[in-house]
Amino acid sequence: MSSILETLNAASCAAFSDMGFPANIGVTRESDRPDLAPFQCNGAMAAAGILKKQGEKSNPREIAQKIVESLQGHPAIAEMEIAGPGFINIRPTRVALTSRAVELAADQNVGATSVSPQTIVIDYGGANVAKPMHVGHLRSAVIGECLKRLLRFQGHNVIGDVHLGDWGLQMGHLITELMDEQPDLSYFDVSKNDDYPVETPVQMDDLARLYPAASNKAKEDPSRMERSRVATAELQAGRAGYRALLEHFIAVSIAALKEGYGALGVEFDLWKGEAAVDPLIPDMIAGLKAQGITEEDGGALIIRVATEEEKKDTPPVMLLASSGAVLYHTTDLATLVDRKAEIDPDLILYVVDQRQALHFEQVFRAAVKAGWYKRDQLDHLGFGTMNGKDGKPFKTREGGVLRLEDLMSMMRDAADKRLNEAGIGADFPEKERADIANKVGVAALKFADLQNQRITNYIFDPERFTAFEGKTGPYLLYAAVRIKSILRKAKDQNVTSGEVNINESAETGLVLALDSFDRALKSATDKYAPHLLCDHVFRLAQAFSRFYSDCPILAGETPDIVKASRLTLAETTLRQLEHGLHILGIEAPERM
Ligand code: ARG
Repeated sequence: MSSILETLNAASCAAFSDMGFPANIGVTRESDRPDLAPFQCNGAMAAAGILKKQGEKSNPREIAQKIVESLQGHPAIAEMEIAGPGFINIRPTRVALTSRAVELAADQNVGATSVSPQTIVIDYGGANVAKPMHVGHLRSAVIGECLKRLLRFQGHNVIGDVHLGDWGLQMGHLITELMDEQPDLSYFDVSKNDDYPVETPVQMDDLARLYPAASNKAKEDPSRMERSRVATAELQAGRAGYRALLEHFIAVSIAALKEGYGALGVEFDLWKGEAAVDPLIPDMIAGLKAQGITEEDGGALIIRVATEEEKKDTPPVMLLASSGAVLYHTTDLATLVDRKAEIDPDLILYVVDQRQALHFEQVFRAAVKAGWYKRDQLDHLGFGTMNGKDGKPFKTREGGVLRLEDLMSMMRDAADKRLNEAGIGADFPEKERADIANKVGVAALKFADLQNQRITNYIFDPERFTAFEGKTGPYLLYAAVRIKSILRKAKDQNVTSGEVNINESAETGLVLALDSFDRALKSATDKYAPHLLCDHVFRLAQAFSRFYSDCPILAGETPDIVKASRLTLAETTLRQLEHGLHILGIEAPERM
C-alpha cells in the first residue's frame, strides 16, 4: 500500500534515473503552492546543475519538459505543468485518488504503516515526591505521553517510566518535620528496626504541609538544615525506620500522582524512581572503579567526560560528593544500569526540561564511557517553558505552587465559559455537560502545548486555548463530534456507507489530507516533534470542514451512491482523526 505521493515520487525518480541522473534528485513532494497543484517535483534544476558541472548544455526547463513527456500517461498523473525556471507541478488522477481512498477506508490504521519494532523507554513526568510540581513536569507529562503513544502506534514496544524524584533532601525534610510533629511514631525509635505499622502515618495533605514547612525553616536556620541533611544521609545509609517512612511517602505520592496525571490522560507503565535504584549504586561504583574510569577529586568521586575537541570543557560527572552522598548523576547512572538489566532497551528517551541538557549530556557520556550503551541509544528531548503573561514560568496560587488540580480547574472554567457562549450542551444532563467541559479543557491545554515546536516557550492563555475557532484543541473536538453526529443521522436515515468515488475538488482535498497521515506520523517520529502531528490533524479537520460545506452528505438531493461514497469518506476521516487525537492524548466527547 503506497500513498499517492509515494506513487508519484517513485515515478518521477524513475524518470530522472532513465535520463541518466541520480534517482534521488527526482523527488516529488507536497507543493509549497497547493493552490497551483498539490505536488511538485523540482529535480530539473538539480539535473541542470549536474550537466553544467560536466560542461554540458543545461536548460532546466528543457529537462523538465523531457521528464513531463516521459511521465505522460502515467495512471496516477492527471496533469503536469512546468512553472518558473523548471518546477513541475503535478495533479493526481481521479482514479488514483479514488483507489487510494478505497484503500484508506478499508484500513483500520487509515494509512499508518508500522516500522520494525524497537524496545524504547521513555523517561517522562519526573515529578518529585512531596516537592511541588512545576510547568516542566506538566510539559514533560504531556509531551512524553504523546511520544509514547506515537511510537507505540507505529509498532514499537514502548515503556513509560515516571522516574520519580524520591531520593533527595526533600526526604530528610519530611522525616525531620514529621519527627517534630509526632516524635512518638515508632519510625523514630532507634531501638527498633522492623515491624513498623502498615498504615501510613501521613496523607498527601500532610506531605504538602510538612515539606514547605521544613524547607522554609531550613532556609532561615542552618541548624535546621543540618538536621534534614543528616536525616537524608541516615536514610540513604539504610536506617530502617526512615526507609519504612520513605516507602509510605512514596506510596502516598504515587497514589496522588496517579490521580493527577490520570485526569490529564497520562499513564505510566513503571512507577520507579531514584530510590528504587539505590541498591544498585555500590556495585555500580565498584564496577566503574575497576574499569579505571573514575577519579578522586578533592574527596569526591568523579568521571571525566570532556572530549579532546571541546573548547569549553564539559564538567565531570559527580558520582559521590565529598560527604559520600549520592547525587543526581549517580541515580541517573544507576537507573541506566537498572534499565539495561531489566529491559535492555534499544533506545531511551528523556523528556525533560531543556535546562537539564548539560546533566544528560554528562550522564550519557559517562554511560558510553562505561560501555553500557552506544551514544545513539540515549537521547534527551528538551523543551521550553510554559510562561505566565509576565513571561516567567507559569505558577498558580498567588505565584506559588503549580497544582495540577488548580490548572485543570482553570482550564475547565475557561472551557465552561466557551461552551456557554456557544450555547453548547445547555440542555444536556449535568454530568455529561461537566464531562464535556473537562474534555474541552484537557484538549485545549494539551493541543496548545503540543502544537508548538518542543523547544519554544509559550504563554499560558486559557481564553485563547479554549477558542472553538482557529488552531485549537476544541476546534478539533468539534470536528470529530460533528462527524459523529453525521454518522448518527445517517444511521437514523438508514443511509449506509459504500463505494467511494472522488469527483469534487473538496473531496480531492480531503483524500489528499488523509493520504498524508503516514508521512506526518513518520516525520513527527523522526524529529520527536508532536507539532507535526498537530499540523496534520488540523489540516485534516479543515479539509473535512471544506468537504462538509461543499459536498452535502445527507441532503435530499444527493444521489444515494454519492451519499454512500461521502459517508465512507466521513467515517474514514473520523477514524483517522480519532487515531491522531488519541496519539495527542486528546479524547472527544460523543456529542457537543
Ligand atoms: N525529578 C527531576 C526534576 O524534577 C526530573 C527527572 C527527570 N528524569 C531523569 N531521569 N533525570 O527535575
